[in-house]
Amino acid sequence: MERLNGKIALITGGVSGIGLATARLFHEQGARLAVTGRDRDSLSRAQEEFGNDVLVARSDAGKLSEIESLIGQVKERFGRLDVLFVNAAIAKPAPFVFVTEEQFDETVGINLKGVFFTIQKALPLFTHGGSIIVTTSIANQMGSPNFSVYSASKAALRSLVQTLGLELIAKGIRINAISPGPISTPMFDRFGLPDDMVQGIKGEIERKSPIKRFGTPTEVAKAALFLATDESSYIVGDELVIDGGMSLL
Ligand SMILES: NC(=O)c1ccc[n+]([C@@H]2O[C@H](COP(=O)([O-])OP(=O)(O)OC[C@H]3O[C@@H](n4cnc5c(N)ncnc54)[C@H](OP(=O)(O)O)[C@@H]3O)[C@@H](O)[C@H]2O)c1
Repeated sequence: MERLNGKIALITGGVSGIGLATARLFHEQGARLAVTGRDRDSLSRAQEEFGNDVLVARSDAGKLSEIESLIGQVKERFGRLDVLFVNAAIAKPAPFVFVTEEQFDETVGINLKGVFFTIQKALPLFTHGGSIIVTTSIANQMGSPNFSVYSASKAALRSLVQTLGLELIAKGIRINAISPGPISTPMFDRFGLPDDMVQGIKGEIERKSPIKRFGTPTEVAKAALFLATDESSYIVGDELVIDGGMSLL
């Protein structure tokens, strides 16, 4: 049985990591899809993999004009939306005292402002209710040294999902969050740190993790699928933690 047959879904940051795994799963489950990213190589690989039925759009999630243009493309191609997975984000580690205004604005611009306005601009396309899923992080409830801006942006999203849970349910739209712990994706390679340091960080996370491993992007995608379908029909404004027990420590 295809669980998203006839549904139309937009996934931001859908050409890498968790977003790509979710795009693959949604596609397998019969959804008609639009996915976004910025990196041209990742976008071309996704277009090649999914074929022309999927709208693969280059769109900067931190720029309002590009969000508006993306929503216009989705409207023109599909006419409406049933599922929105707002997943694009960046994470750049830096000790608190060294964070510049530029770094602060970039992270908050993509991770918070971008998510806020993607949801706002996409709302008119939800003509028959639907499901919105926001990727937060367990960093929103744990202290995460060197990730002050990232963690604060994700905590703000947790709050946004609670407020919008109440505002949007009257329109038949459920919004929920997915909160991943450490997941094996290219995110760690984008930290801008030397490879041996990244390997060291990953090893330390594995040792600390109750389940003794990273999660896979597919393990998160399955949770997104659950929240996208009516199987989660009574879940509103909540956050599903997928972290192998990490946030229990
Ligand atoms: N991996 C983890 O351990 C972990 C843990 C907790 C939460 N998360 C969250 O999970 C989500 C997915 O991350 P991931 O781990 O799958 O990392 P990833 O592989 O780096 O994927 C991030 C995606 O977001 C896109 N993106 C970033 N900035 C963008 C922008 N300005 N405009 C459009 N797209 C943008 C990237 O595309 P381009 O590179 O093409 O711009 C990429 O497709 C993020 O919200 C992240 O915060 C991840």
